[in-house]
Amino acid sequence: GLVNTRELFKKAFAGKYAIPAFNFNNMEQMQAIIQACVETKSPVILQVSSGARKYANQTLLRYMAQGACEYAKELGFNVPVVLHLDHGDSFELCKSCIEYGFSSVMIDGSALPYEKNVELAAKVVDYAHKYDVTVEGELGVLAGIEDEVSHETHSYTRPEEVEDFVKKTGVDSLAISIGTSHGAYKFKPEQCTRNAEGKLVPPPLRFDILKEVEKRIPGFPIVLHGSSSVPQQYVDIINANGGKLEAAVGIPEEQLRQAAESAVCKINIDSDGRLAMTAAVREVLAKKPAEFDPRKYLGPARDELKKLYMHKIINVLGSANKA
Ligand code: G3H
Ligand code: 13P
Ligand code: ZN
Repeated sequence: GLVNTRELFKKAFAGKYAIPAFNFNNMEQMQAIIQACVETKSPVILQVSSGARKYANQTLLRYMAQGACEYAKELGFNVPVVLHLDHGDSFELCKSCIEYGFSSVMIDGSALPYEKNVELAAKVVDYAHKYDVTVEGELGVLAGIEDEVSHETHSYTRPEEVEDFVKKTGVDSLAISIGTSHGAYKFKPEQCTRNAEGKLVPPPLRFDILKEVEKRIPGFPIVLHGSSSVPQQYVDIINANGGKLEAAVGIPEEQLRQAAESAVCKINIDSDGRLAMTAAVREVLAKKPAEFDPRKYLGPARDELKKLYMHKIINVLGSANKA
């Protein structure tokens, strides 16, 4: 069955790795995630944004997540699966997700004034903990697009706020802003330098802020959103097959590896999966223009996604063999 994040984060913290949080909204994504986790023996957080919930339907998602647990066992390994609401924006949405079987929710009040964020998060925690559902809060605003809310400007997490926030709200984990952002365009080219091959190199994450946060709430699980790396090979395949992704830049995997070894216990990856699937679909359709059986392009997309997730689990997050 589904589990909440409590034990998973405790082990991830002690073991210096991070639990993968992969977004999903359809069957092929779910299959790819579970296959990757079975093969690597990794725990996983299946996360659903409010947009994804609308897209896929709450009832279908509930049974898909339960099905994911059984599917894993059928494939030969009992993967610990968390069903998590990504970027919940209201108490009502969190409550509804809990009613529909989620084992964890995020209440993202990061765009609210501090006291409002505290108030909302505390209310969600109060409700969620009655059902043994864990809650992720957020302090600091990521650049770019957070779900449907877009932020022109970002603000890094203020370490001096984290202890008070965690105490007052009772959240089980805390998402922070240290330079990541959502989507495939995390940095403007003018924020980047260029390496010898002319590739855009983004400014490094603010590990100094992370360290300050760790000092103020020792042992507390931290979450990193916006942690796609935007693999250049996918961008190239997409662009070579009719796509148009210009100046897409992500977070270098080396920095995510470093984060996973620290207090960061959950790393969110969505965009890289979208790129993997799109690259595979475009390639198939470009090579075989007469093909019109969805399985013939969604199958390869699923396989590519699985490959990507195995790579993340083994080489970036370090969660292989930790289930
Ligand atoms: O944080 C954003 C996630 O990547 C979900 O995005 O709202 O398009 O489903 P979405
Ligand atoms: P990416 O867009 O970098 O994949 O981030 C996903 C995320 O943070 C989901 O909450
Ligand atoms: Zn996010």
